[in-house]
Amino acid sequence: MITLFLALALSGLQEMPVSPEPEAEASSEAAPRPEPQRDPVTGELPVDPYEASNANAGASPFAGTGMRDAFHGQDGIRRVVNRMVDLAVADPRISEVFVAHDLVRLRRTLFEQFCYILNAGCDYTGRDMASSHRDIGLQVDDLNVLVENLQAAMVEEKIGFAAQNRFLSKLAPMKRDVVTR
Ligand code: HEM
Repeated sequence: MITLFLALALSGLQEMPVSPEPEAEASSEAAPRPEPQRDPVTGELPVDPYEASNANAGASPFAGTGMRDAFHGQDGIRRVVNRMVDLAVADPRISEVFVAHDLVRLRRTLFEQFCYILNAGCDYTGRDMASSHRDIGLQVDDLNVLVENLQAAMVEEKIGFAAQNRFLSKLAPMKRDVVTR
């Protein structure tokens, strides 16, 4: 009698519906994208692969050492770039543009670009101006504000006006690649 009861109970158990494993349920949904990780050495976020070239800088370098000296060498160029970025990200007219962008990479690539153009001994390893600004949707007013920030940074660095204007004239033709609206 007990054996019959046990046999019935066991056969009943085998027929009980089995609830799906929690893992199986989770895998049927789209897996969440992993957060991009900053490089532990450079502190930069990864970017899609591209071919690095000085041609990506968007301008040819000045000849000689005059412009390098006017900008007080690599140290002066770094101060100008960092000050320009600080002013831009705090400027209510354009600050929103920089939210969710990698400012560590931006400071490095801008430094390389300026240093390359000023013939101060750098190669530019960033992306070209068209592809790096394509999705930002900048207007000419945004460019004018950034130029204002750059001018303020150059004045603080006590760079002569002739050198400031020579440098700005190298950047001016990039407008066609940077401004997309
Ligand atoms: C002639 C003017 C400009 C130059 C020379 C310039 C230069 C650069 C450089 C070198 C990069 C980095 C490219 C890379 O990551 O490989 C960059 C990216 C960027 N620029 Fe500009 N830029 C200009 C105008 C502007 C303006 C007007 C704004 C906004 C007001 C702006 C916002 C940005 C932002 C948000 C990024 C990051 C893009 C990303 O994360 O993919 N830029 N720019």
